[in-house]
Amino acid sequence: MTTPVSKIVIAIDGHSSTGKSSFAKAIAAKAGYVYVDSGAMYRAVTLYGLQYGLISNDGKINTAALIAALPDIRIEFRNIDGQNVTFLQGVNVEHDIRGIRVSRQVSAVSAIAEVRTHLVHLQQLMGKDKGIVMDGRDIGTVVFPQAELKIFMTADPRVRAERRHRELVAKGGQVSLDETLRHILQRDYIDEHRAVTPLRKAGDALLLDNSHLTPADQMKWFEEIWEKYK
Ligand code: DC
Repeated sequence: MTTPVSKIVIAIDGHSSTGKSSFAKAIAAKAGYVYVDSGAMYRAVTLYGLQYGLISNDGKINTAALIAALPDIRIEFRNIDGQNVTFLQGVNVEHDIRGIRVSRQVSAVSAIAEVRTHLVHLQQLMGKDKGIVMDGRDIGTVVFPQAELKIFMTADPRVRAERRHRELVAKGGQVSLDETLRHILQRDYIDEHRAVTPLRKAGDALLLDNSHLTPADQMKWFEEIWEKYK
């Protein structure tokens, strides 16, 4: 009889547009684990702020009111047809949290210390029974510093810009490659220089630079590592 191997926590962090969520979803499916997109939680808080007039469209945040509202904000993930879908106050907001209004304001919301403390606590509760893959910016450093497996993803900014630009053009966007690259470099700067828990690689995280890897190469890389844990 084989001994059942206990479940672990897998923390995925890294730069924007490195394919963290696609990779995290794929490895959660491989491991039979729950996938949690922590960025969606910051996006849901931002959407709540916009919906309730706590954030204006020109980016002014009523920080005190947003902090006071945190206990009332109900964020859940439900599995619909095999997809992880974000619900806010019982309503499916998966589409709205990815839109431009939320994308513009979410960096400022995620820089508020009280928002981070609140969401980190919820994320830790989600991971208390392990068997979870969570992706974000501070998962291996703050949310689960004891995670058994940490992966930090990066790629050459130009490669990331090319990938992102292809996606935007496919969606009918009219942005230039240079502008996309500037945006990516700007996001790296904001993530790495934020006063509260800036993005950094945990000392014990494995570095995955996917500049020259296909999704299939990346899975092969993971499968070799996973042999030690499954
Ligand atoms: O991964 P994403 O683009 O959906 O993240 C949305 C925003 O939330 C982005 O500005 C980074 C921030 N974020 C964060 O600060 N900490 C996390 N654990 C996840 C996301």
